[in-house]
Amino acid sequence: MPKPKRVAIGIDLGTSKCCVAVVQDGRVEIIENERGNKTTPSYVAFTDTERLVGEEARNQATLNPTNTCYAIKRIMGCRYGDPCVRKFEKNVGFQLQGKTFGNPQVCVKYKNKHQKLTAEQLTAMLLTKMKETAERHLGCKVTDAVLSVPASFGSAQRQATMDAGEIAGINVLALINEPTAAAVAYTANRTVTTEEEILVVDFGGGKLEASHIRVKNRCVTVRSVCGSVTLGGFDIDNLLVEYFLKEFEQKHKVNLSAKPKAVVRLQIACEKLKRNLSLLPDASVVIENLSGDIDYTIAMTRDKFNSIYGNIIDYFLAALQKRMPAMERFARVLFVGGSTRLPLLEERLTKICKGNSPAKCVNADEAVACGAAVQAALLAGDNSLQELEVNDVVPY
Ligand SMILES: Nc1ncnc2c1ncn2[C@@H]1O[C@H](COP(=O)(O)OP(=O)(O)OP(=O)(O)O)[C@@H](O)[C@H]1O
Ligand SMILES: [Mg+2]
Repeated sequence: MPKPKRVAIGIDLGTSKCCVAVVQDGRVEIIENERGNKTTPSYVAFTDTERLVGEEARNQATLNPTNTCYAIKRIMGCRYGDPCVRKFEKNVGFQLQGKTFGNPQVCVKYKNKHQKLTAEQLTAMLLTKMKETAERHLGCKVTDAVLSVPASFGSAQRQATMDAGEIAGINVLALINEPTAAAVAYTANRTVTTEEEILVVDFGGGKLEASHIRVKNRCVTVRSVCGSVTLGGFDIDNLLVEYFLKEFEQKHKVNLSAKPKAVVRLQIACEKLKRNLSLLPDASVVIENLSGDIDYTIAMTRDKFNSIYGNIIDYFLAALQKRMPAMERFARVLFVGGSTRLPLLEERLTKICKGNSPAKCVNADEAVACGAAVQAALLAGDNSLQELEVNDVVPY
């Protein structure tokens, strides 16, 4: 009788989206969800009749804003009284509760009953979805996984991620730092014979961080890490939301900030405006019936947009230069994460790296999951892969 297959998967557990990958016959493969998408929105929603995860949850967010949870990674391992949790609470449509030194709890109504859920429980629902996505594709049970975390996560946030894995019935083989995972994905497919100093910049929905990594032969060594888990695309969207809430109040004498439905609709429109501004010098998005029968158009030039969030980039680049002087040494800059599509980051970073512009040699949306899958396969003893050594600065 053939032995049942035992596979280990890699999950990129992002603030905005999740992505799952697996190594099969020596090749890394991103696993599509049941809708044929390679990434799944990090959304969980509760209704009178069911619990929704992924696209289905995101698609009904504006209709059910108080019971649709997103960006939960931002509060993993945090205390309710932490400044970042208080700020988060103001920016989302759902409610949080908790004691100052206790964990925040998310309050939702599910099947007509009030429920309180921890960040770990909500994250476990996302992990279960990703595990099931892998099981459907592979046709076998999956329990072993490597989960990704920001390099800048502290020990409480890492523990919360491990706990979420346990709640989801996953045997967490290891956590892998997200920039490291991208470097692993970069190295797995090639043989670098000379020593190469690379800078991985990961700018996602919830964080902006960079790792200095040395790649030699089949060895990936992290030299240093710099960044923040409280600055990401989500925060840029919220700067835009604040701007347009003020503009709306000035024009229409209505304060929308206490209306979750309006705020969530504005958030979605601002995210769209931001993406359009990555491509165009100016852009606009119409929101129908934002308040009563008022149709509201949000419009902005890229220059104005840059002036609104530019200090996030400057703050990061100043910290980066302090932590990693002599930026011109980097033979390669790898860009990972959706927010690296913002032209301002590339523009300003290229100047600092003396013209060494970021390479598009890894897929910005998939590299972290691929690296996590390679690490999972190595830990599970998959001998279809070439040996690869990974030395990280935070060996959790
Ligand atoms: N074209 C674009 N221009 C600007 N921002 C973009 C673009 N495309 C996607 N984004 C932003 O990228 C972010 C999502 O990136 P990504 O999917 O890498 O995040 P994540 O991995 O879920 O989060 P994290 O790694 O921070 O936990 C969102 O804030 C999204 O608005
Ligand atoms: Mg990410």
